[in-house]
Amino acid sequence: MAIKRIGIMTGGGDCPGLNPVIRAVVKTAIRRYGWEVLGIEDAFRGLIDLDYRSPHGNRLLDERAVSDIHVKGGTIIGTSNRSNPFAYAVERDGQVVEADVFERVMDNYRALALDALISVGGDGSMAIAQRCIDRGMTQIVGVPKTIDNDLGATDYTFGFDTAVGVATDAIDRLRDTAESHDRVMLVEVMGRNAGWIALHAGLAGGAHAILLPEIPYRLDPIVALIEARRAAGQPYSIVVVAEGARPAGGEVSTLGPRDLGAMKRLFGAAARVAEGLASRTELELRHTVLGHIQRGGSPSPFDRVLGTRMGEHAVDLIARGRFGHMVALRGTDIVSAPICEAIGREKRVDPDGAMVRAARGMGICFGV
Ligand code: F6P
Repeated sequence: MAIKRIGIMTGGGDCPGLNPVIRAVVKTAIRRYGWEVLGIEDAFRGLIDLDYRSPHGNRLLDERAVSDIHVKGGTIIGTSNRSNPFAYAVERDGQVVEADVFERVMDNYRALALDALISVGGDGSMAIAQRCIDRGMTQIVGVPKTIDNDLGATDYTFGFDTAVGVATDAIDRLRDTAESHDRVMLVEVMGRNAGWIALHAGLAGGAHAILLPEIPYRLDPIVALIEARRAAGQPYSIVVVAEGARPAGGEVSTLGPRDLGAMKRLFGAAARVAEGLASRTELELRHTVLGHIQRGGSPSPFDRVLGTRMGEHAVDLIARGRFGHMVALRGTDIVSAPICEAIGREKRVDPDGAMVRAARGMGICFGV
């Protein structure tokens, strides 16, 4: 079947680099193949409900619509991490429950005359894409994204480099004030179950301790480090704490119960470490949670280039009929891999790997 119109949606948490993908998809589809591109608003929400508007609704994207968006963070077509059509929050008999609304998605996909769909998202979005394929919506191609860089199928995801830049900049700033006040500064960074942002930003920012989800920590080594630095005439320290870091034998810190259709929110890891250290050092402690600042801002040149290459490649995959595949970066090459093989392969920091070893060589403490 000849392709005439493709859809693109961005799902899960936003990240810098999504707009370069959208721009590359639109330009390549129009210029190379003469296709139309429909931007679907807020991931599957735009397919679950055709009257859904937030703030634009589904709309055709021409080159004008994507002009200059490569410098903008976020996504011009919106995103959602609560639009899983297989566990969608609906009201039934006065109660909100998670329901399978895939048939609506299929009907609306046909009503919009879509011939193929590009789903840009993280592991959760790729798993949803695979379920759609299994249920008969076969013409799907994936583009991986996440600031967490935790997808095993690709060496890097766009968004990560920008997030590391933001976190590194924050560490640099906190170092100035830590040094002036003789304080211990704890910086909580994102990453969920993977410590990539913490490890990269901690290394780049010259942190003195880095606490990772992959290495449960104890307070004793951190206290020893802080006090050794104090004794050596450097009465300030920087501790980078991944949001998924947890004490040995303990659980991750979370914020309230999980909302229906959403993931549990990680929060409070740095505050917990600060609380634990408070009685064990005379130095003042302060903690800063960088939070969503890491997800915003103009994408770094690396993320712009990666997003552009992945968007262009995704369109070519459709033209070649390679449905059910997602693009990936391997070394310096953009390649593709079956989505079914790519999902569920979480890439986490290896506690015995080269990166951690390099950090240890710098004297960085991991709380063990
Ligand atoms: O997966 C990306 C990410 O930014 C994680 O690092 C973080 O835990 C989560 O999303 C935050 O999600 P939300 O935007 O729903 O608070």
